[in-house]
Amino acid sequence: MVIVYRSNTGFTKQYAEMLGKAEKIKVYSLGQARELDQDTEVLFMGPLMAGHIAGVDQAVKQFRVKGVCGVGMSPASQQTLDTLAKANYVPNAPIFYLQGGWAPKQVGWIKRRMVNMVTRSMRQSLRAKGSRRTPEEQRQLDFLEKGGSFVAFENLDAIRTWMKDLK
Ligand SMILES: Cc1cc2nc3c(=O)[nH]c(=O)nc-3n(C[C@H](O)[C@H](O)[C@H](O)COP(=O)(O)O)c2cc1C
Repeated sequence: MVIVYRSNTGFTKQYAEMLGKAEKIKVYSLGQARELDQDTEVLFMGPLMAGHIAGVDQAVKQFRVKGVCGVGMSPASQQTLDTLAKANYVPNAPIFYLQGGWAPKQVGWIKRRMVNMVTRSMRQSLRAKGSRRTPEEQRQLDFLEKGGSFVAFENLDAIRTWMKDLK
């Protein structure tokens, strides 16, 4: 098994490289993966864009996708995972979710606006709390407004357990 990933602002790439190093398996970007055989078994990792895992369709056409992982800006939860599974069904492949980050300065203005539209009501309600914001809520507001990263090695636990069971 190898890891193939797509990444626009680098968070998915960080996870892919961390996982590859920990599990001692090779890591390829979708572009580099062109050299791989069609029957290569792949864990595909890609960034979430409006609920869809970018690059997953291409990966499914090109390889034997054994597992899929979406990387988004929302906190990980069962609900996030359920929604993801519905919108990105890949036959016979489990789906995982990792919280990546948000890099507003690295995305074009149209995409930034799209995300800001989705997060608007949450930002407004957090701002309205003013000095009553908890430290956690302040962190959340800073993240939505300025960006930040939640990439952490521990988040890979579920995927690593799945990989070990495959071996
Ligand atoms: C146009 C656009 C749409 C996005 N849609 C979602 C989404 O539906 N859910 C989510 O959690 N994050 C969403 N995000 C945030 C990215 O998935 C997040 O920043 C991710 O970590 C990017 O990974 P990358 O750095 O590998 O490209 C979106 C970002 C952009 C620019």
